[in-house]
This record gives sequence, C-alpha cells and structure tokens, in this order.
Amino acid sequence: MKSYNVAVVGATGAVGEEMTRVLEQRNFPVKQLSLFASHRSAGKEYLHKGETVKVKELKDTSFQGIDIALFSGGDDVSKHFAPLAVQSGTVVIDNGKYYRMDPQVPLVVPEVNPEDVHQHQGIIANPNCSTIQMVVALKPIFNAVGINKVICSTYQSVSGTGKEAIEELKEQTEAIISKKEAKASVYPYQIAFNVLPHIGSFGDNGYTSEEMKMLNETRKILHADHIMVSATTVRVPVYRAHAEDIHIETQKDISPEKARELLSNFPGIKVIDEPEQNNYPLSFKAEGKDEVFVGRIRRDLVFNPGLVMWVVSDNLRKGAALNAVQIAELLVEK
Ligand SMILES: NC(=O)c1ccc[n+]([C@@H]2O[C@H](COP(=O)([O-])OP(=O)(O)OC[C@H]3O[C@@H](n4cnc5c(N)ncnc54)[C@H](OP(=O)(O)O)[C@@H]3O)[C@@H](O)[C@H]2O)c1
Repeated sequence: MKSYNVAVVGATGAVGEEMTRVLEQRNFPVKQLSLFASHRSAGKEYLHKGETVKVKELKDTSFQGIDIALFSGGDDVSKHFAPLAVQSGTVVIDNGKYYRMDPQVPLVVPEVNPEDVHQHQGIIANPNCSTIQMVVALKPIFNAVGINKVICSTYQSVSGTGKEAIEELKEQTEAIISKKEAKASVYPYQIAFNVLPHIGSFGDNGYTSEEMKMLNETRKILHADHIMVSATTVRVPVYRAHAEDIHIETQKDISPEKARELLSNFPGIKVIDEPEQNNYPLSFKAEGKDEVFVGRIRRDLVFNPGLVMWVVSDNLRKGAALNAVQIAELLVEK
C-alpha cells in the first residue's frame, strides 16, 4: 500500500494533538510524520506508532517532500504557509476559516459532499465545528424531503477555542469553588458557572461570525443557496463536545419515525432517542467519540412541515481532526 509524508501544522494545539492521535487510530498510511508549531514549542516530543516525533518550528521551507499537510495553526499561519505548501506540491487540509468561502477551495464533510474534494487546487477546507455536526444531521433529511429553513441554538464547549480556554475553565472553576476571584482572559466574562451568548465577532446585522459561518458554510456544503439558517451560538462550561438544538422547516412532510430511520442508516450518525428511558445524546458521553449523536427527534410545533432534533458531537474529533483525516482518506482512496 502506498504511504505518504504527512505534516501536522499546529501540532501542539487542541486540534493538532487530536489530529496526530486520529492519524494513528485510523491507521492512516503515514510514511513519515512531521509535526510543526511555533518556535515556542519546538523540541516538544510526541509518540506516534511507538516512535518519538519532535516538534519543529514551522518555516517557509518546511513543506519540501510533504504530500499532505493538516493545518490547525490559526488563520495567520494558514494565510502565509498554505500557499507555500501548495507551491511545494503539498495538498493542504485547512481547519481555519481563512479559505472556507473561497470559491476555488472545496469545503468538505466526507459523509455529505465527498465528491467536492476532487475539485481542489491544492487546498481543501474543513468546515467550522458547529457546521460540521449540523450538516451531517441535516443531510439525510435534506436528501429525503428537502429543507428550507433551519433555526439552531448551540451549546459549545470551551475546547472549541483551544487549549488556553480549557485551562481557563479549569482555573476559574477551582478559583470559584475556593472562593477566590475568577480571572477571565480568553473570554470577555468568566465561563465557569456561566453561559456566554457570544462566539466570534459581532457583525453589522447583530449576528456573530460563528453564526454567519453556520449559514454560509451550510449553503456551500449542501450546494443549496436557498436554505436559510438563523443561529445563536453559545459557549457553555463544558470541556469537550458541542450540542445543538436544531429546528428544521422541511419542503415535504416527514414523520419523526421516518427521520429516525434515515438518520440511523446514515454514515457517521448514531441515533440515541429513548427519552422515556432518559436516553438522549449528552456532551460528556460524546467526548472522544467519532459519531454525530442525534436524539429528541420530534415534530416541530412552529414549522409545518418540520422537525426538531438535538445533535451532539465531539468538536475536536468530528468537528475538526477526524473530519480532516477523513478528507485525507478521500484523497488517498483516489
Ligand atoms: N478547537 C476546535 O474545536 C476547532 C475546530 C475547528 C477548527 N479549529 C481551528 O483550528 C485552529 C487551531 O485551533 P486549536 O483549538 O487547536 O488552537 P490552540 O489549542 O490554541 O493551538 C494553536 C496551535 O497553533 C500553533 N501556532 C500558533 N502560532 C503559530 C505559528 N506562528 N507557527 C506555527 N504554529 C503556530 C500553536 O503552536 P505553539 O504551541 O507553538 O503555540 C498550536 O500548536 C484554529 O484556526 C481554529 O479556528 C478549531
């Protein structure tokens, strides 16, 4: 079997560490793994398939001989280094927002629009974490009966902001329990014992950048510019996994039973929907798992025809690292 020289850029971050883990867990055909971060983390060591790999400082010349690079170093890193990587013949799978809406760059969720990957001209974008789990859950409904409108509220974990935010939640929780002052630096307010209706930056229409991503990226991935998505994205004091309350106006009627059947048969989805047994998707149970968990499936009382569902997935796995590695798998299969 052919194997590839693979690089992880931003390898010491919340997403980067998960990428290295997922590459090993899925037995991706890696010939040589290169890990890159800033000068701050150069020399740090990780284990990959029993071998120690040292993190190197990312430089303009780092991509020589690299076949596939998984980027999660932030938008400035992607903007500067992705074109240099492409010039070296590397295919870049980028986790940031910088390239997502570029018409030259496919935006791919492998269960939803795998065919788009082959349109790439060197860069493929990974969608935003809250969009990925939503479109996976929407796709079987979209295929069966069409979708016009979506209203979504999210309950997003702090790991979606990166490692510093995970530390901040821990420190604030410890401080508050010990009756000390909780210092906030990553978010504008404390996140421990709190809920923040603010992810990303506010735009002129009052929506945040995260909320507008859920509209624009959904349309691009589903190739459906008619779909309206109105989102309210909320940060909650949870370490890992985002939850979403999704109300859907469908084009034709669909029963909750039929939706449950379609969702159960869709790749990457696990339906957990026995509310009478207190069985529904939960953030802490989704941690470290690959699936998009769907439950609380019922008719919407406002949209007719329409459905409501509760969707939970690990933002560092399906929302980032796993989706990126699945994209790499599509490239290799070709
Ligand atoms: N967290 C999520 O759920 C999620 C989901 C989807 C997409 N993303 C996107 O993925 C990216 C990373 O997110 P994260 O949560 O992993 O952040 P993070 O935990 O803060 O990690 C950032 C990583 O970028 C590296 N880095 C920063 N500046 C660099 C530079 N100049 N050159 C090379 N490497 C540099 C850091 O290395 P050092 O250790 O050297 O500082 C670190 O490895 C962001 O674009 C984010 O929007 C995140």
